[in-house]
Amino acid sequence: MSNKNHHDKIERSVGLLAILTIVAISFGTLVLITPLFFMDETTQPVDGMKPYTALQLEGRDIYIREGCVGCHSQMVRPFRAEVERYGHYSVAGESVWDHPFLWGSKRTGPDLARVGERYSDAWHHAHLMDPRSVVPQSNMPGYPWLDKNVLDGKHTARKMEVLRSYGVPYSDEDIAGAAAAVQGKTEVQALIAYLQSLGTHLK
Ligand code: HEC
Repeated sequence: MSNKNHHDKIERSVGLLAILTIVAISFGTLVLITPLFFMDETTQPVDGMKPYTALQLEGRDIYIREGCVGCHSQMVRPFRAEVERYGHYSVAGESVWDHPFLWGSKRTGPDLARVGERYSDAWHHAHLMDPRSVVPQSNMPGYPWLDKNVLDGKHTARKMEVLRSYGVPYSDEDIAGAAAAVQGKTEVQALIAYLQSLGTHLK
């Protein structure tokens, strides 16, 4: 029997064709994905990276709660236009400790992957309270309540313990000091601390 007849048999049997198609696609997918779990480039943090401080971590949770990811990506793609606008494209080693990651896919506003240290804390504060006070044409909503809500730090240590169980290298001291580090700070202070840390580790 020639090869031609084998194909004929497969193509005439929908069930067999479906099964073999799935086998072929699964194999291709595994070949592409499996190495990523073992490559240093995708599993190791970039040199000198530090986990979020307790305050930055609380800020990140506020970023999630307020849905900032719905308008802002954190993923500079390796295209010339993006690199010229935002800085070095994002690399996997910068997000290995982000659980969940906040790469996003919607850009109503600019990408924030490298916004850290680009503006002063005072600028961020004014912008978050009322974006149009600093960017008149902005359509970003204001978040004035973040200035009134005060953190109690009740769950901060627990959050860090959970992240440590995922491999984020928090020390016992980091966790012991977590509540004290955030107590009494406002939510906007935490959010600004988080924003100022974004994209600053890649040298
Ligand atoms: C409805 C969409 C929308 C949401 C939601 C939103 N933003 Fe924005 N954001 C924008 C737009 C549009 C701009 C550009 C104009 C400006 O600077 O205000 C912007 C700008 C920014 C900038 C300045 C970036 C730069 O490089 O100039 C920061 C920082 C920022 N947003 C943070 C946040 C944070 C933090 C949140 C959540 C608390 C948030 N945004 C929620 C639309 C949004």
